[in-house]
Amino acid sequence: MSFKLTVLQTVESTQDVARKSALSGEPEGAAIMALNQTRGRGRLGHSWISPPGKNLALSIILRPRLTPTESPLLGLLTSVAVANTLDKCGIARSELKWPNDVLVGGRKIAGILSEAVLEDGIVQHVIIGVGLNVNAQESDFPKHFVIPATSIFLCTGRERDVEETARDFLEEMHALYGRVNRDGSSFIRGLWEARWAHRSMMMVHEGVVGRAKGLDEDGALILSTPDGRLIRILSGDVFPLQPDTKGFLNNSRD
Ligand code: BTN
Repeated sequence: MSFKLTVLQTVESTQDVARKSALSGEPEGAAIMALNQTRGRGRLGHSWISPPGKNLALSIILRPRLTPTESPLLGLLTSVAVANTLDKCGIARSELKWPNDVLVGGRKIAGILSEAVLEDGIVQHVIIGVGLNVNAQESDFPKHFVIPATSIFLCTGRERDVEETARDFLEEMHALYGRVNRDGSSFIRGLWEARWAHRSMMMVHEGVVGRAKGLDEDGALILSTPDGRLIRILSGDVFPLQPDTKGFLNNSRD
């Protein structure tokens, strides 16, 4: 399988363009990039806001031989591919936040939206959307983001060609996805955890607090609660607990 990049001018969301193509039989490897999205979508019903022409908005069609339970691992895999791409751009200190966010110095540089379509319990296709901040400046980001944003430009002081960045990412993705096709998905956990920002830290998920232990086989996040239970987080968001919000817990690693 190889990736075939199509660059579009303005679309509502590259996810929707890719989904329509996938439903009309486009083979896996099609990658749709847009210079401008007027209705970019993020995880959990959020919108994805990005200044026209400055950042990467890309969706790829995959048709993995994975079970529906395994398919969320592709989002994790994609975040590793983005982090590897950042290495090549001279940003060696990128880290991952469960499930798919890519951070540099605690600021979000990329987000990933993974949308799977199943039929009779079988994965037909997965559309993986990547929003990577390439040339955005501080003033391009709204102030209300929960996690402050950054970009390749802000991290390196150098502008980068967005299409070239897309091609670099696709090369990384090609290597990692090729490995999934050859060896299965079990290697993804180790690669992801090696880049994980919050290992062993106290985290909060929908009011539940626990120490971050690792990923389960299916990519669920495992937290160990103060009363000794292990809980699996499969969806939603999880944030590091601030040291001053609970006296008896702190944010330090074990
Ligand atoms: C997130 O962090 O919430 C995920 C953001 C994903 C944004 C990308 S940009 C390309 C693709 N098209 C979309 O509408 N969303 C994804």
